[in-house]
Amino acid sequence: MKRSKRFEVLEQRPIHQDGFVKEWIDEGFIAMESPNDPKPSIKVENGVITELDGKKREDFDLIDLYIAEHGIDKEGAERVLAMDSVELANMLCNPNVAREDIVKLTLSMTPAKVVDVVSQMNVVEMMMAMQKMHPRRSVATQSHVTNLRDNPVQIAADAAEGALRGFAEQETTVAVARYAPFNAISIMVGSQVGRPGVLTQCSVEEALELDLGMRGFTSYAETISVYGTEPVFTDGDDTPWSKGFLASCYASRGLKMRFTSGSGSEVMMGYAEGKSMLYLEARCIFITKASGVQGLQNGAVSCIGIPGSVPSGIRAVLAENLICVMMDLEVASGNDQAFSHSDMRRTEKLMCQFLPGTDIISCGYSAVPNYDNMFAGSNTDIEDVDDYLVFQRDLKVDGGLRPVTEEEVIKIRSKAARAIQAVFEGLGLPKITDEEVEAVTYAHGSKDMPARNLVEDMKAAQELLDRKLNGADIVKALAEGGFMDVAEEVLSLLKQRVAGDFLQTSAIFDNNWHVVSAVNDSNDYMGPGSGYRLSGEKWEQVKNIPMAMDPRSI
Ligand code: 5AD
Ligand code: CA
Repeated sequence: MKRSKRFEVLEQRPIHQDGFVKEWIDEGFIAMESPNDPKPSIKVENGVITELDGKKREDFDLIDLYIAEHGIDKEGAERVLAMDSVELANMLCNPNVAREDIVKLTLSMTPAKVVDVVSQMNVVEMMMAMQKMHPRRSVATQSHVTNLRDNPVQIAADAAEGALRGFAEQETTVAVARYAPFNAISIMVGSQVGRPGVLTQCSVEEALELDLGMRGFTSYAETISVYGTEPVFTDGDDTPWSKGFLASCYASRGLKMRFTSGSGSEVMMGYAEGKSMLYLEARCIFITKASGVQGLQNGAVSCIGIPGSVPSGIRAVLAENLICVMMDLEVASGNDQAFSHSDMRRTEKLMCQFLPGTDIISCGYSAVPNYDNMFAGSNTDIEDVDDYLVFQRDLKVDGGLRPVTEEEVIKIRSKAARAIQAVFEGLGLPKITDEEVEAVTYAHGSKDMPARNLVEDMKAAQELLDRKLNGADIVKALAEGGFMDVAEEVLSLLKQRVAGDFLQTSAIFDNNWHVVSAVNDSNDYMGPGSGYRLSGEKWEQVKNIPMAMDPRSI
């Protein structure tokens, strides 16, 4: 065939590198409304759910049973199930219906019912519902702070810069597993230098992650995965009960925690049972609710390529974020793993959560260059940050970030690097040299950093665990190393672990260690003039991007 020059040009566009597939229902390649999804139903007899979404109690699998026992407010369930889904969908996006009134109904729904309700909405209606339903009134966002070499001084400096830029939570993970203790302490110290009150986590194998948390090296955890079919769950040697137990372990030590799930995981692991991605994700959200966990990182997360490949997939991802908040759970709403080569398409994806606001808009905005992102890349990288600041300013929308100056960033990176240098010195860990401190102050990524002795670092990281060091040892090293102010902040963080107030739904800290959560900052959106507004001091900051010239001086 003689080629059209038009089509040849179009094929060169980045969108052509993305993967798209047609629906394949048997294998679960369908975003919403699979013909195999059950019809909503519930029967409650003597306070026991004897039928759930078309299944009799004797036929329940592990997940059905867990949800029936713990995940549904039985009072009024039969009445809510009998209500028209279109009417319920209307109540969700109607600003005149208060959040607290609709939550009473949504908590009595079943997974199939909640899916039926959100399936009535287009994306703008879902955004309207999200604007009202996310539990915390003020919005926030989260970063990834990692690097190719697990360089601790770089983690500390990038964490400080990220905290200064406004991330309320920052997470790291490892390139090499044995580095985990170094990454955990580096992101914690760096974050407290950048902005006291930032929460940090280190996503690693479950037992080690819990250990790091118990020692006081981290302050939250979120990569506790749950799945929507029994074969996928048990494939990982887990059950809803084992995950519920793990959740309790974190909570018992005053660590904020949320689960992770997201559409596409069951397809990826080959046991989707022909159900739609959204229905299976609804089951995960109910498992989270049933476990008493305060929130969920969802929105496909690391599986975004799967829903991203099928029709209505990006809409379904917003729908799953919406179901999460309908269950009165904090949502950390995806925009995490990279899924598209097209700048336009990744913006399309981001806008679904950015525009309405959510509790945590991105559950992993890369605060580092893509090549340093050990979570396999993010939808947005540090190079996108000025675009992001302009989105906020253009639309008068708070996306959780603030403009910073080059001078401030250089200063804070230097301080964080020197603080972690003092910690390493104080704890007898391999030396962080002045040359490294200087390099990281001005670095963009790990390519700008001198090499460290990896073998020596790995050995010392293991010894740090064997020596039974904990958060108090970090405080001491900071204080003795001349960083009394940072020592105070890390100590404040440890004290908060004892107080436990930040275990409330959607809790983050302001700059003065005050908890801001769904309890004292609950979303009261009821149409124009209500809810969270970008105004006052915050709007002045958002307006003031360094790129803007003063017209009087031109
Ligand atoms: N379902 C369940 N867990 C997920 N994670 C990411 N995406 C999903 C998903 N769709 C968890 C995994 C991963 C971490 C980054 O988050 O535990 O290792
Ligand atoms: Ca995350």
